[in-house]
Amino acid sequence: MKRIGVFTSGGDSPGMNACIRAVVRTAVYHGIEVYGIMRGYSGMIKGEFVRLDSASVSNTIQKGGTILKSARSQKFMTKEGRQQAFDQLVNNGIEGLVAIGGNGTFTGATLFEEEFGIPTVGAPGTIDNDLYGTDYTIGYDTAVNTALEAIDKIRDTADSHDRCFFVEVMGRDSGYIAIPCAIGGGAEIVMVPETKLSTEAVIDSLRTSWDRSKTSFIVVVAEGDEEGNAHLVAQQVKAAIPQLDTRVTIIGHIQRGGAPSAADRMLASQIGIAAVEGLMNGMRNVMAGIVDRKLVYTPFKDTIYKKKLINQSFMRMVDILSV
Ligand code: F6P
Repeated sequence: MKRIGVFTSGGDSPGMNACIRAVVRTAVYHGIEVYGIMRGYSGMIKGEFVRLDSASVSNTIQKGGTILKSARSQKFMTKEGRQQAFDQLVNNGIEGLVAIGGNGTFTGATLFEEEFGIPTVGAPGTIDNDLYGTDYTIGYDTAVNTALEAIDKIRDTADSHDRCFFVEVMGRDSGYIAIPCAIGGGAEIVMVPETKLSTEAVIDSLRTSWDRSKTSFIVVVAEGDEEGNAHLVAQQVKAAIPQLDTRVTIIGHIQRGGAPSAADRMLASQIGIAAVEGLMNGMRNVMAGIVDRKLVYTPFKDTIYKKKLINQSFMRMVDILSV
């Protein structure tokens, strides 16, 4: 393989730059040319390619966001869009791809490989940590720490004013961000899609704590929780326990930015190297991940369709520690 392309796609995550850097430097190390594809699949369709060398990725390991920019492309979901992307790759002599992203990115890559045979190795880049085939995704650790820092600050004011805060964190359909935020942030309750805790159960629990003279509370709500968003839950709680002074904080996109943590830089670097070496060894349609500290390559289909389960003992921890 003489020339490869690398791109970031879907929601950005801290550590994507560290991964791009590792991909570029590994390619250079092995004598392979590397092109950055701007704005994910959108840029691939338009032929937005930039030649990258070792110096292009200097001073990027510590930066949040992605120097290649990111996008979610509707056009790539059409056959016509994929045909255009393929033509651009062929015209530019790109023989393999490293795709840094999440579910949507790998769904696109799978279709692309099936139709046009371009080998792709994925790197798990998403704050959501919802990909099967890796214990952690690039950006997750940083996002959790960012959310936790916010929760610590909310706790200060919740305590001063004897208030009950409903704090909504990201994670799409998964509670992976919410759970460590709840345990590390000393929350009373955590609501995640995986456990289906009802709003009635939340009300019962808060009422019991209130009756036991607890005066301030943090309830962490995962954005994908089936009971609805934090505002809705807070409204229902307020209606049931009017004496509670409720407030809502949506932490939002702050969770997606910032300098990557040490753990994310390390993971991104390991995976970037593994992605390029995987391509060189003939791998295709797989994601490089770390499971139990070991490098593994998992077929895209499994990363997308197999459910990464939440460790149920973590839910028990929240119950015990909020007693
Ligand atoms: O997948 C990452 C993520 O930040 C999710 O946690 C969130 O649901 C979504 O992306 C937000 O997407 P957007 O930035 O397009 O609003």
